[in-house]
Amino acid sequence: MKKLCLLGLFVTLASQSVLADNPPAPIENKDAFISNLMKQMTLQEKIGQLRLISIGPEMPREMIRKEIAAGNIGGTFNSITRDENRPMQDAAMRSRLKIPMFFAYDVIHGHRTIFPIPLALASSWDMDAIYRSGRIAAKEAAADSIDITFAPMVDISRDPRWGRTSEGFGEDTYLVSRIAGVMVKAFQGSGANAADSIMASVKHFALYGAVEGGRDYNTVDMSPVKMYQDYLPPYRAAIDAGAGGVMVALNSINGIPATANTWLMNDLLRKEWGFKGLAVSDHGAIFELIKHGVARDGREAAKLAIKAGIDMSMNDSLYGKELPGLLKAGEIEQSDIDNAVREVLAAKYDMGLFKEPYLRIGKAEDDPADVYADSRMHRADARDVARRSLVLLENRNQTLPLKKTAKIALVGPLAKAPIDMMGSWAAAGRPALSVTVYDGMARALGGESKLIYARGANITGDKKVLDYLNFLNFDAPEVVDDPRPAQVLIDEAVKAAKEADVVVAAVGESRGMSHESSSRTELNIPASQRELIKALKTTGKPLVLVLMNGRPLSLLEEKQQADAILETWFSGTEGGNAIADVLFGDYNPSGKLPITFPRSVGQIPTYYNHLSIGRPFTPGKPGNYTSQYFDDTTGPLYPFGYGLSYTTFSLSDMALSSTTLNKTGKLDASITLENTGERDGETVVQLYIQDVTGSIIRPVKELKNFRKVMLKAGEKKVIHFDITEDDLKFFNAQLKYAAEPGKFNVQIGLDSQDVKQQSFELL
Ligand code: BGC
Repeated sequence: MKKLCLLGLFVTLASQSVLADNPPAPIENKDAFISNLMKQMTLQEKIGQLRLISIGPEMPREMIRKEIAAGNIGGTFNSITRDENRPMQDAAMRSRLKIPMFFAYDVIHGHRTIFPIPLALASSWDMDAIYRSGRIAAKEAAADSIDITFAPMVDISRDPRWGRTSEGFGEDTYLVSRIAGVMVKAFQGSGANAADSIMASVKHFALYGAVEGGRDYNTVDMSPVKMYQDYLPPYRAAIDAGAGGVMVALNSINGIPATANTWLMNDLLRKEWGFKGLAVSDHGAIFELIKHGVARDGREAAKLAIKAGIDMSMNDSLYGKELPGLLKAGEIEQSDIDNAVREVLAAKYDMGLFKEPYLRIGKAEDDPADVYADSRMHRADARDVARRSLVLLENRNQTLPLKKTAKIALVGPLAKAPIDMMGSWAAAGRPALSVTVYDGMARALGGESKLIYARGANITGDKKVLDYLNFLNFDAPEVVDDPRPAQVLIDEAVKAAKEADVVVAAVGESRGMSHESSSRTELNIPASQRELIKALKTTGKPLVLVLMNGRPLSLLEEKQQADAILETWFSGTEGGNAIADVLFGDYNPSGKLPITFPRSVGQIPTYYNHLSIGRPFTPGKPGNYTSQYFDDTTGPLYPFGYGLSYTTFSLSDMALSSTTLNKTGKLDASITLENTGERDGETVVQLYIQDVTGSIIRPVKELKNFRKVMLKAGEKKVIHFDITEDDLKFFNAQLKYAAEPGKFNVQIGLDSQDVKQQSFELL
């Protein structure tokens, strides 16, 4: 109540204090309200609004509050409870103009309840489930006083060496764009100004996933057609869905860092796409313009960034330090600063903060006694979304599902790994709340008596890698290392395996291996764990691999060794239960890969929708002078869109309603899907189109639609897809988006390789 009065007072004051020179502006009129407010702001207050600082040891809280009260900070990130943020908003309310603060956080795949990592969410191909995960994340974050998230991350990633592959939704433009829109709508709910919503700021604008060699923060050099066609659409989809913010990428694009890139930020984002929201730099990115070698000092860096249209500077002090001098010297215009300030204030307005600065902070008496109280968690949803995201890669002799009567040896360094369960960027998630694979299996079995556990191996036997993974966490290392000799661990696991009917090995990466800056030169399971798998294989017991990893792995050997492989990614707080649901058949897996799995790291890139070439490799007709690696089989290990089920599905031949399509017409592509197995199950029917001849070379195929379909055992269903001219459009050499008449192949399959095909002509 007190806060509401304060707010009323603020709104009145905000209007009254302009009475002398400006007529009062009603808060309902956004533009007038903001213009009025800006007329009252000093230069220092304006520049203060452009400063986004990280709550952390660099700046004590007391100092932060002082700075806020002096009007020197626009927003903070990394403080995640109402009682942490309330004093900061109180400080803002003590500032001269009482401009509210906003509180940001990386809410990427859940807030307190952690959902599967984004790459796993994409594996569900289930837009309702993905929406649910985002909506719950927003509700939990908003209830903890967060106003804005730095998400969704929609960088197309086609190089799995890149550690941040885990944080995105895979390699495909269409799928990632669909998810981008869904996530924005989920975060923002009925509007970014709703008390249970948070504003989305899509990242990392742009092309961050295409860093050369998969090495983080590296350069990107890309043709305009490829940008427009493959890499930019997901950001555009997020913006079209109403994302209020954009986070600018750390990489350069064709020689100009994104943070200084006026083409990117002004011509493309604002002019061409009509974006009117908030543009924030990534962490320290303005300062890094010096290191990129485009600014000789901080002054020039600040000038380049403000000129490019970077509204807020994240965690560097350059705007505060340099903008006044640049303005005085006439090197930047007042309008450069004003444009940025207007966008910050507009974002705050859109978050509902001018009407109610305490919208998400609420009253102290309502603060939760325990922010992790079970009543605040969303475990059932997390479990359901997690099991939808698991991908069954192999299942020979119906090794899975396991019988609950079986004696099971559970081994591997990831079987009891609560922190890894959460994956990277796990927001406010707590490892102690994670259900591990061991917990989940033990619960499903009604106790631990039939489960024999042995660690079997460490994550890595390489001390350098271990040190890297723990470099931030020396006090409580994230990757725990069992000091016993590797052979002792293996012998223990082999003994457990011999006593059991079946072996489940939880192996793969620790979460830090698929994280920001964690690029890899190899994609295999670390050697220590491969030794374990080899030893387990010698026991002759059926071997199930439960993989945990944040990127495609090269699994050539494991594909042969294992009887079953379940790709579980990092599946979140309820991951262990979800995995047990699938292992024991209480849930029939339905996930499909959103990214190609290569046979080896040398094959990269292996994305399915590559351009046609003059001398393609023809399967079954090996020979010289076609495009291939002669020393390995050509093609991926597991293709995009692939994933098995405990039932089997078949597709009839496809029917097209016509062999021609005119520009205003519509074609119907239909196919009968049949569940030919003995269990009910869900699969994803995928529609691909190939533009056979174009004015520029077109991809061999492109995903254009899909449907996740549930069928009872023995059930059949006809699936229809509409095809219109819109599905055939692409950016030509002049970057004009249009379809060209000619022949098109339509393919429908349950993955991107095994498809039925028909053709038509666009007239
Ligand atoms: C990352 C961003 C993140 C930011 C704030 C940066 O290092 O690149 O994705 O949003 O930190 O935590």
